Amino acid sequence: MSTTEATGQQSSAPNRAGGANVVPQPSSETQLTKNDTSSREIPYAALESTIPFLQNPYRYISETCQGLGSDVFYSRLMLSKAIFMTGPEATALFYDQSRFKRHGAMATRILNTLLGQEGVQTLDGDPHKYRKGLFMKLMSRENIVKLIEITNHWLCAYANSWAAMPEVVLYEELHEVLTRAAFAWAGVPLKPDEVKQRIGEVAALFDGAGAVGPRHWRARQARRSLERYIEGLVQEVRNNRFQAQEGSILEYFATCKDFDGQELKLHTAAVEILNMIRPTVAVSVYQVFVAHAIYKHPECCDKLNSSSEYLHAFVQEVRRFYPFFPGLMAFVAETFEWKGYQFPKDTLVVIDIHGTNHDKRTFAEPETFNPERFVKYDDKSNAFSFIPQGGGDPNIHHRCAGEMITLDLMKLTARFFSSKVSFDVQDASSLEVDETRVPALPRSGFVIKNVRYKFLNA
Ligand code: HEM
Repeated sequence: MSTTEATGQQSSAPNRAGGANVVPQPSSETQLTKNDTSSREIPYAALESTIPFLQNPYRYISETCQGLGSDVFYSRLMLSKAIFMTGPEATALFYDQSRFKRHGAMATRILNTLLGQEGVQTLDGDPHKYRKGLFMKLMSRENIVKLIEITNHWLCAYANSWAAMPEVVLYEELHEVLTRAAFAWAGVPLKPDEVKQRIGEVAALFDGAGAVGPRHWRARQARRSLERYIEGLVQEVRNNRFQAQEGSILEYFATCKDFDGQELKLHTAAVEILNMIRPTVAVSVYQVFVAHAIYKHPECCDKLNSSSEYLHAFVQEVRRFYPFFPGLMAFVAETFEWKGYQFPKDTLVVIDIHGTNHDKRTFAEPETFNPERFVKYDDKSNAFSFIPQGGGDPNIHHRCAGEMITLDLMKLTARFFSSKVSFDVQDASSLEVDETRVPALPRSGFVIKNVRYKFLNA
């Protein structure tokens, strides 16, 4: 049954942008505006957006907004009323912590896979600020350089074997590189007989979280297994039965105090240690896109090697151009009005990441890959218009704690593929990016062949 049939109303506008059909306001039960003449009604898009959002995760919100001529629309997500928003102004609103709260907003299926229960992402107010501070202390230059050096070691070790392989599934190889690096960096032992298992489990957390079916169930099982393993290690560190590496992430979360002055709960400590390991391995998605962009734009290689400013601009453009997370969710903390639209308390609000990074008002020709746009770009004054890893200030808001790590890992990868090795793609279909899966990826995980070192021991 179509939306129009369900509401018994006529569609008022053709579906210009390919987003949800635009239909008149439904019954008063679903209206989100109060009877106040100063209020405008939030444009209504569809009775239920769950399926179209899952089918077109990166473009559904922006295309629907375009069709409605509005940065905001409402509908339902998993049967709950939801307001969807796109663009820099809406992003600035989304990061107003007096208006939105995160606790309870994240879908259980994402908490049980990608994020874990009771981690920093689920906190608000002072407990969030305190816990976030614990993460930000780990982002010292010294600590980041340590991770980059370990990753470089494993990247070179793996690449040595790629030359002899008829084809290389780059995404899978990079999971191995980054899992080995992240575990070593975090001080979490990788037992020789469990290496393959742990690599598969960490990848499943971010690769299967947004999926439906077996890929998702594997992610749930992986979270249970990894949390059990790390909880055991934290317990042993606390009982002095395991000597954690001094200054390691394992030692840090096993011994630090939470906002209430107590040690982190065992489970929470494991969740937060995984909050360092999992996203580090997830950078494999961006590494694949770095290789993809270098292959498609070989003219960038010289500049990547001669200019650190261009290298920075290049990886910023990769983060803008390629999709990763479709959106973020929060609940309205207290009813408020914005631009005449009423946002009722406890309504779910979804902000559009990919659409905001492709907003024509900020980025001219957004569908063109153009690193030059980030040369002389001021990251700080664009905290709400360029949001691949969230917006605002990471010390205050929920914005990603690991952007410096992400950028440095991407730069390592860009230098590696532009100066040290060359490769061909298996066939043209390897270059197609599948945007129906989350995270999006070139088909088959980017299959490359004929990998050659440009300089021995370079
Ligand atoms: C593939 C690269 C990455 C992407 C696309 C990414 C993306 C994001 C996004 C979208 C958020 C949520 C922002 C919000 O809720 O407002 C986030 C939060 C977070 N990220 Fe990342 N991230 C990446 C890498 C990393 C790395 C390398 C680390 C640490 C080693 C990290 C640690 C965190 C933490 C701890 C949070 C929670 C922050 C909070 O709730 O206050 N991320 N990330």
